[in-house]
Parts: sequence; structure tokens; C-alpha cells
Amino acid sequence: MCQLTNAEPAFNALQANYSLRDHNTFGFDVRARLGGTICSEVALIALCADQRIANLPRLVLGAGSNVVLTRDFDGLVLVIKLRGKRILAQTDDSYIVEVAAGERWHDFVDWTLQQGMAGLENLALIPGTVGAAPVQNIGAYGLELVERLERLRSLDIVEGRIIDLDAQACAFGYRDSIFKHAARDRLIILSVVFRLPKRWQACVTYADLASWLSSRGIHKPTARQIFGAITEIRREKLPNPMMLGNAGSFFKNPLVDIKKFSELRAKEPNIVFYTQHNGRIKLAAGWMIDRCGWKGRSIGPSAVHERQALVLVNRGGATGKQILALALAIRADVRQRFGVELDIEPRII
Ligand code: FAD
Ligand code: EPU
Repeated sequence: MCQLTNAEPAFNALQANYSLRDHNTFGFDVRARLGGTICSEVALIALCADQRIANLPRLVLGAGSNVVLTRDFDGLVLVIKLRGKRILAQTDDSYIVEVAAGERWHDFVDWTLQQGMAGLENLALIPGTVGAAPVQNIGAYGLELVERLERLRSLDIVEGRIIDLDAQACAFGYRDSIFKHAARDRLIILSVVFRLPKRWQACVTYADLASWLSSRGIHKPTARQIFGAITEIRREKLPNPMMLGNAGSFFKNPLVDIKKFSELRAKEPNIVFYTQHNGRIKLAAGWMIDRCGWKGRSIGPSAVHERQALVLVNRGGATGKQILALALAIRADVRQRFGVELDIEPRII
């Protein structure tokens, strides 16, 4: 991994009244008491041991594509820019690849395909960094990160030591992991190791993907074709945060038991759902929000995207509090119509 041989003057590189506007994809114009970018593990370790800032609350950011900053942050923001990627080893059936936390996720997926290593293509075009990907166990188009993660390296900023975690220790769930709970703001992910299969099989179970491919006569897609298909589908559906501030899905798709589902389906026969391995039913929150009439609607500068009701957008000049107020109004309507509680996906600060 890219490392400095000597410790940078880490503390001196921090800025007071640090603007976070370019570090969150909603584009909220808030500030941190202190902040800076971290380009080496050595600098990060030195900073975390620095007694002058030991008592400040900390917030780690990658690209800020899964946070809602509702206020100035009275603490230290560390923007992780650690770079580097390498093939660590090969076995008979897999490639083992390590990548630093600050690499852009999508560029990393592209790179693996360029190296002839398939297996991450379904996660193409997810914004953000590699280091944040385990935090919510990113998932899309039939694949979750947990299916490819071997282990990760992290820095425990309380004890000042490096800790390796395997997938089991990360306690992954649907858009969930230990990094949203006990390890939040304590373990900083430094790099992630993936195991990519040599005997690759296409994963084309997701309906949108399957129909995109079959409508173009592609029946045995290559990994590169899946990467291309998903990139196109996502560009069509989801707003580009560079053009329209957003954090992707604002709510998780709720999970209900079979009894609740049967009641709902009797009232709403067209409800969109996915049966899970554990017998629970996942409901499409976007469909429910759409049904409540929210798609394309706005409250001031905060709006519901017109092609994907699960995505809230900043039409210009919105604050985090305004986006949150819109989210709460949507949540109340979904609760009233469906009796289902929606959980917010991005982290609210
Ligand atoms: P940030 O927003 O910077 O941080 C997110 C969380 O991770 C915060 O709690 C932060 O403290 C923590 N964190 C960040 N870096 C580290 C680190 N190195 N160590 C420890 N903690 C850290 N997500 C999906 O799962 N599937 C999708 O299909 C998807 N589509 C999206 C589409 C759009 C248009 C957008 C804007 C977002 C989408 N997302 C999706 C959400 C987002 O891209 C992912 O959650 C991504 O992993 C966030 O990366 P980030 O670097 O921007 O994280
Ligand atoms: N739908 C509507 N109206 C809408 C939006 C969706 O009727 O306005 C319907 C769709 O027609 C479809 C169903 O709801 O039948 C599901 O929609 P979609 O395929 O767009 O997926 P999603 O459930 O809205 C989830 C993830 C996305 C991920 C996609 C593809 C969550 C919370 N969201 O969205 O992840 O990219 O599936 O796998 O699980 C994210 O987490 O930020 C994110 C974008």
C-alpha cells in the first residue's frame, strides 16, 4: 500500500473551520471545527495519538455519499485518501486483492476487470470509497460486498493499534455492519482484502438487469458486459450527485414477517416484494413512497427524485435539516398507508 516512510507533520496539516461542502454529495455547506485529508497511515496514526486533539469528537469521511450533515460538526473530520491496490496472492480458485480505503470504489471495480478478475461487476458505479463500502455492506443488482470480502485492516483509535477483521467479525447484514454500531468512529478502515473467484459465474438474477441484457440479445454475458449494463441502468435511474445532490436510497427497504405481508398484500395486491432466505419479506420502499404520491414532489428545495422515489435530492440551497423534514413527512405517510416503519439509510450528523 502507498505509505510515507516518515510521519508527516500531521497536526499542522489540519485546518480550522474546515468546509465540508465538497465532502458530502448533498453539497451541504457546513463546517467542522477542525479537518483535513489523510494520505498516509503513518499520518493517521500520528494524528490519532496527538494529545492536543485527543478529546475532540471525530468523524471519518470518504466521499460523503452516505451522510446527511444537518449542522456544523464541533470536532475533527478526517477525510480518508489512502491510495493503492495490489494482487496479494492467487490460489487454485481465487485471486486475493488488497485495496486502500481511499480508492474510489467504482475505479477499483473497473481495475479488477482490467486485470481479468471478475466478481465485483454487479457493484459498478456505486459512489464513494473502498473504506466506506464495508460500513453498510454495499449492495446492488443481486450482490452484496460480504460475498467477496475476505478481511479488512483497521486502526482502533482508542487503543492505537491495528486490528484485522474477517467477514464474520464485521457482522454484516443488509446495509449493516459492526461499523454502524460498536465500531462506529472507533475503528477506521485502512484497507480491504477481497477474494475474487477464478471460476466466475454471472449473477443476473435482478429483474432490471436480466431484462436489460435479454432485450439486447445477450444471453451469456461477460463480466464486462454486466459492468456496462449496470452502469447504463444506474445512469438512467439515479441522479448523478455531481449534478443533483443526493445520497442514493434515503431509506432501507423494510423487512416484514409473513403475517404482516399477507395483510398488506390483501389490501395492496401490486405491492413489490422479495422473499428472503430467512422467510422474511423485503418490501420495495420506493414503490410504497411512489404509491403515497411523493415521486417528484418537493418541499422547498428538498425533493423526491422524479425517476426514483427512494432518492431525496437537493434542488439547490437545501439544508440537511430540510432534507430530513421531507424524509419525516414521507415516513409518516408510509406509516399511515402501509403500517410500515421506514429506516433512514444514510448516517445523520
Ligand atoms: P461516506 O458517506 O463518506 O461515509 C459513510 C459512513 O462510513 C460514515 O458513517 C463514515 O463515518 C463511515 N466511513 C467512511 N469511511 C470510513 C473508513 N475508512 N473507516 C471507517 N468508517 C468510514 N449504496 C449501496 O449500498 N448500494 C447502492 O446501489 C448505492 N447507490 C448509491 C447511488 C448514489 C447516487 C449515491 C449518492 C449513493 C449510493 N449508495 C449506495 C450509498 C453510498 O454510495 C455507499 O454507502 C458508499 O459506500 C459510501 O461511501 P463514501 O466514501 O461516500 O462514505
Ligand atoms: N419502484 C417504484 N417507484 C419508484 C421506485 C421504485 O415503483 O419510484 C419500484 C421499481 O419499479 C421496482 C422496485 O420498486 O419494482 C425496486 O426498485 P429498484 O429496482 O430501483 O431498487 P430499490 O429497491 O429502489 C435497491 C437499493 C439500491 C440498489 C438497487 C439495485 C436499497 C435501500 N436500495 O433500490 O441501493 O442500487 O436496489 O440493487 O436497498 C442505495 O443503497 O443507496 C442504493 C441506491
